[in-house]
Amino acid sequence: MEQSFKTTIIDKEEKYQHFLPDWELLISGETDEIAVLSNTCAAIREAFGFFWIGFYLVKNEQLVLGPFQGDVACYRIRKGRGVCGTAWAEAQTQVVPDVEQFPGHIACSSQSKSEIVVPMISQGEVVGVLDIDSDQLATFDEIDRIYLEKLVDTLVKTIYTKE
Ligand code: SME
Repeated sequence: MEQSFKTTIIDKEEKYQHFLPDWELLISGETDEIAVLSNTCAAIREAFGFFWIGFYLVKNEQLVLGPFQGDVACYRIRKGRGVCGTAWAEAQTQVVPDVEQFPGHIACSSQSKSEIVVPMISQGEVVGVLDIDSDQLATFDEIDRIYLEKLVDTLVKTIYTKE
């Protein structure tokens, strides 16, 4: 009987479990904010192929566009506005299966159909958000929330925790 030891990654959870250690290795040894955020976007895009991946960073009481991969996007978002501003105001991850059903959603691209936004919390303060958009409906769920929150937690410890 033929036995195959070939592993095929089919499951999203398995994909995150493979991705996170590879990504941690990628960012280890670098603490510059722009450098680490930029490569994080590129790594997520390469592994998952999402439509838009990027960071908005809190500057002077607004979220300002940071490193991203994807189409051009809105520069500034106010607290409480859109999915990103809500994640900031509530300091909670927002999982949006259909952006058209989210009151006040900011449409940077008409191709964006679903979205997840994870706040970056450093010393109790939201310092930015990770925003990922999909061109399909209902792309993100609890699995994405759990693993992307882990990623953001590691990210914040790596680039914002000063020894
Ligand atoms: N849709 C977001 C705005 C940012 S773009 O998706 C890149 C929002 O509603 O906050």
